[in-house]
This record gives sequence, structure tokens and C-alpha cells, in this order.
Amino acid sequence: MSHFEIIGGIALHGEVRCSGAKNAALPIMAAAILASEPVTLMGVPRLADVRTQTRLLRCLGLQVERDRRTDILVCRPPGKDSKSVTDRNVCPPDEDVCAPEGLLRQMRAGFCVLGPLLARRRRAVVPLPGGCNIGDRPVDLHLKGLAALGADIRLEHGYVVAEAPRLTGAAIDLSGPHGSTVTGTANVLSAAVLARGVTIIRGAAMEPEIVDLGDFLVKLGARIEGLGTGTIRIEGVDQLGGATHRLIPDRIEAATLLIAAAITGGSATVTGVVPEHLHAVLEKLAAAGAVIVAGADRVSISASNGRLRAVDITARPFPGVPTDVQAQWTALSSVADGACRVEDRVFPGRFLHVAELNRLGAKIVCTGGTAVVTGVGRLSGARVTAHDLRASAALVLAGLAADGRTIVERTDHLDRGYQRLDRKLRQLGVRIDRVLYLHRLSDKAKQQSW
Ligand code: EPZ
Repeated sequence: MSHFEIIGGIALHGEVRCSGAKNAALPIMAAAILASEPVTLMGVPRLADVRTQTRLLRCLGLQVERDRRTDILVCRPPGKDSKSVTDRNVCPPDEDVCAPEGLLRQMRAGFCVLGPLLARRRRAVVPLPGGCNIGDRPVDLHLKGLAALGADIRLEHGYVVAEAPRLTGAAIDLSGPHGSTVTGTANVLSAAVLARGVTIIRGAAMEPEIVDLGDFLVKLGARIEGLGTGTIRIEGVDQLGGATHRLIPDRIEAATLLIAAAITGGSATVTGVVPEHLHAVLEKLAAAGAVIVAGADRVSISASNGRLRAVDITARPFPGVPTDVQAQWTALSSVADGACRVEDRVFPGRFLHVAELNRLGAKIVCTGGTAVVTGVGRLSGARVTAHDLRASAALVLAGLAADGRTIVERTDHLDRGYQRLDRKLRQLGVRIDRVLYLHRLSDKAKQQSW
């Protein structure tokens, strides 16, 4: 276990490069199951979730190698020696179509192997992902879409068992009560590319990560139109080849780094980004009084002209403000000038970070899917804990703006979705250390050390 120790009150300055997108890497790695030739992915971030997805693919018989020096990942279809992969000991003996429950417990996004497995191997046995701290995470739309393609779907002992001799194209609507489904679109899109005939997905997710998945599938030989719109048309093919593909940059990491500069009244340039993927967040930062300059592959922010203004946001599906930036915006609003409302239309219950932000001195009241944030002059450092990835990021950002020392526990949450965020923040002048505890301190000892 380890925690971050942050000494707040330092304005960030400098330049930092954004890593590849976690939420593009995970469905694209899953879609590598569809390839009949090797797949080379570039710009793959070094994340715990990517390591988990790698283990999952190996369990499913793919040969996956990672070049640690160059962010390149190579996936090869199951070969004669695929049984020799190191993770066989954690994989079920099943004929390479069963995703092990333990890995999906660690990372619910592993559920996006369902569509590719079903399409490529005609059978898939994938554990139902549990709930999580950001709210209900049903998969009814995933299953509705795959059933529409002709799959026989059964729920057995906590697993989805899906079978289809050959999928058949269909007209499918994936819109749900909170908009579309990102990984649901990934599952259905990845299955439809090998279905017989034409599939039309209405209510499709328009997130850049889904566009990136579609671009990757087209490189494999898929026939797809309408990526980035709510209606995607797929003409099924019999087989897909291999490809080399560079992942898009992580727009959520980029937004997090820009908000880090904003919350400290500093300035920063984040390079290796696609500004259009960040449009809604950049608009809100400018409305709050930050000076934003967007270049071809970079965004610069300056918030050194005093406190930012409090600005309302409503988290929505793309192109709206992403729900994955909502917690970070709530942290920024806690030290802004005035009061604002933060609403999350995607995950209305995604406010577990509020109680911990209030322990740092924030003034936030939650009612239903909305938080009302009244800015305070200064936060004060404390020991805080978050229970999900973006909530952890919000607490780190709040620690940057707090007087004194803040300890953010459970760095494992952050390491799931940010490639060495502490190192990137140090590059921008932050005093942040990762402290490993070699043994669990007793509570008394912890209090004394605190
Ligand atoms: C993806 O999760 C992302 N994860 C999430 O990022 C992100 O918060 C979310 O999309 C929304 O943008 C990955 O891409 C790996 P959804 P996903 O299905 O696909 C409801 C992070 O921090 N819904 O788009 O699981 C659901 O309850 C993570 O990086 C149904 O009703 O989310 C939610 O309200 C957290 N039925 C809404 O749709 C379904 O079958 C959006 O969920 C599926 C979803």
C-alpha cells in the first residue's frame, strides 16, 4: 500500500506530456481478439488497468508482449504455444472463451471482451461486472445489442454466457436512461464487424475513445461509417487482418492536469493532446476566468490573475463535460470565487469525493445528482481517502490548493488510470511524494506520525 504526501500552496508552472487514453486502450486491446494477424498498438499508457487487460487477453490465449521502453504493445492471435502464457495458472481451463472472474473484479472494463469473443469464437463466458463506487453499472444495453445480433444470451452463476454460430446484422438502439453506453457501444460495434449483413447502431456513444476503436477496426478491415455520430453503420466482413495503431491521447488526464494548474493559480502547457476532445472543459475553464491557448497538439492554461470564478457544470455524454472530469471540477469549484452547481447526468450518484473534500475544508452540499459548492478562501491539508479513480484525482488536486500537508491514501486507485500522475505533477513544480508503507502502521502510530 502507499499514499501520496502533498505540500500544497505551490502554483504550478511548466510543460508536461499527456499519455495515451486508458478508455481507448481497454476496448481496443479487447478488439485485438478479432484480429487473425498480429496487432501493434502504440502510445499504450503504463497503467494497472492495462496490465490487468493484458493478463485477461493472455488468459484468452492471445500472446501479448509489452515493450517497456516505447509504450508499444503487440498482440498475436492464439498460437500453438498459447497454453504456455504465464497467466494460465489464474485462467480457467475453459477453451479460451472464459474471462476469469478475479480479473474482472479488479477491472470492470474487462467486460468489453464479450463482443469480440462472441464474434470471433462464437462463444463467450464473461463474469457480470459488479457495481462500483460511482453508481449502478448495469449491462442490459450491452446484452440487448448482442441479442439483437442473434446471440443466445444466458445468465448463469454470475456469468454471461453468450453463443452464436454466426451473428447477423440488425438495427439496434443503445440509448439508455442516462444517454448512450460507451463500453456497450464498444461491445456491439466489435461484434457487428464480423456479423453477416448490415448493422445500424442508433443511440451510439460518440466519445473519442469509441471513434478510436472504430478507426482501429477499420484498419483491421472492418467496414464502418458514422463514427463520432449517434448512428453507426457497419457492413459485416468474414475476417479481419492485423494492424498497427496509435491510441489517441487521454483527454481526461489532460483535463486533470489543466485543472491542477488552475486550482493552484498557476500556468501549464499540456502537450500531445487533441484540443477538440477537450472542447467542453476548455470552455468552462475560460468561463471561470482562465486564459486558454489551444495549439495543434497542445493546450496552455494560465490562472495567475487571481481566483477563478465558480462556474456551473452538468456532466453529460460527449461532447458535453465528461463525467470523468466532474470530481476534479468539484475540487476546483471548492476554492473558486462564489458558488456553483455541479450536476452529473451520467452517474447521478458519483459524489463520494464530496465528504473527503469537505474534510479538507470545502463547503459542498449534495442533493440528488447535484452538488452545490460554495468557494472558500483556502483548504487545509488533511489525511483523505478516495474509493475510485477520479475521486482520488480530485483529492490530489484539492491537496495542491490546501494549506500544509495532505495525505491521499490508496494510490492504487490513481495508478489504475493515470500514468505516474505524481511524476507529472512534480514536473510542474508540485511537492508530491509517493510513500510506501512497508507494513501497516497501527492507527495510534499513524496518528502520532500525522
Ligand atoms: C465508460 O464506462 C468509461 N470506462 C467510464 O470511465 C466513464 O465514466 C463512462 O464510460 C461514461 O463516460 C471505460 O471506457 C473503460 P456507460 P461505461 O456504459 O461504458 C448506464 C473512468 O474513470 N448504462 O457509458 O461502463 C450507466 O448506468 C471510467 O475512466 C445502462 O443503463 O459507462 C450510466 O448511467 C469510470 N445500461 C450510463 O449508462 C447499460 O447497459 C453511462 O454508462 C450500460 C450503461
